[in-house]
Amino acid sequence: MAATSPRRASVAAAVATAVLLLLASVAAGDDRNGVYDPCADTTVGRGDGFTFGVAFTGRDAFFSGGVQLSPCDSRLGLANRAQVALFRPQVDEISLLTINSSSFDPSSSGGYMVAFAGRKYAARSAPVFVGNSSYTVTSFTLVLEFQKGRLENLFWKDGDCKSCSGRADFACVDKSCAVKTTSCKGKGGQADCSPGIQLAFSGTDKHEDVLNSWYEVSKLRQYSLFGLFSNLKDSLASQFSSFF
Ligand SMILES: *[C@@H]1O[C@H](CO)[C@@H](O)[C@H](O)[C@H]1NC(C)=O
Ligand SMILES: *[C@@H]1O[C@H](CO)[C@@H](O)[C@H](O)[C@H]1NC(C)=O
Repeated sequence: MAATSPRRASVAAAVATAVLLLLASVAAGDDRNGVYDPCADTTVGRGDGFTFGVAFTGRDAFFSGGVQLSPCDSRLGLANRAQVALFRPQVDEISLLTINSSSFDPSSSGGYMVAFAGRKYAARSAPVFVGNSSYTVTSFTLVLEFQKGRLENLFWKDGDCKSCSGRADFACVDKSCAVKTTSCKGKGGQADCSPGIQLAFSGTDKHEDVLNSWYEVSKLRQYSLFGLFSNLKDSLASQFSSFF
C-alpha cells in the first residue's frame, strides 16, 4: 500500500524505510481524497479518508535547535531512528487505531510518539510518553482539528488518572494511566500492551460542515476507559472494539 506521490518520493522513502504498518479503516465509496502521503497537504470533507503518521522515537529526536519540527522535515533525520505507523481513518468517524506490539515495542523505540500530517501546512502533535522499561501507556485520545478541511492541529488529550489510582499494576505517568511494563506480554506478563489510539475530529471540513466526533468522544469519556483494560488477561484492543 505504498501510495505515495513521486514528487514526495524522497521524504516518503525516508518515512517508508521505517514504516511499521499501514492500518486502513476507510469507507471505500465516499473517499474523494487522493492524497495518501502523510507528508503532503490536502483538504478533506466528511467521509474522506485522511492519512496521517505516528512516529516513535526518543523525545529529543523530535526537536532541532530547541524547536519541534514535523517528522516529515528532513532536518530531523528520523529515517534511521524512528518507527512510523501510518493510518487512514475516515474523517469524522470515531475510530480506534491499534499498533500490534508483538511486532513493535514502543519502549525500545525511544518511548515517545508524535502524530503528524502535511508539508507546507505541517501539523504535528506534542511528543507523548508511550513507554519505557518501567511503565507503558496503552490508551490515547488524539484530536485532529481541521479548518475548512485543512488539518490545523493535532493534540493528545490528557488521560484520566483517577481510575487507576490504588491499582498495583498501574500508575499515573505523564497524566495517563500506565501499566507496569513487566505486566506486558513479552516482558514477563499477560497484558497486550499494544498502544490504542482513539481518534476524534473537530473543526470544519472543506464544505465548512462542522466535524463533531470530538463532541461524541467527550461524552464517551465520562465512562471510564480504564474499566476496559482492567482485566489484564484480555487483549486491550479487543476490549476497546467491544466498547464501540
Ligand atoms: C500481531 O503480530 C503478530 C506477529 O507478527 C501476528 O502473529 C499477530 O497475528 C498480529 N496480531 C494482529 C491482531 O494483527
Ligand atoms: C519511565 O518513565 C517514567 C515517566 O517519565 C519515569 O518516571 C521513569 O523513571 C522511567 N523509567 C526508566 C527506567 O527510565
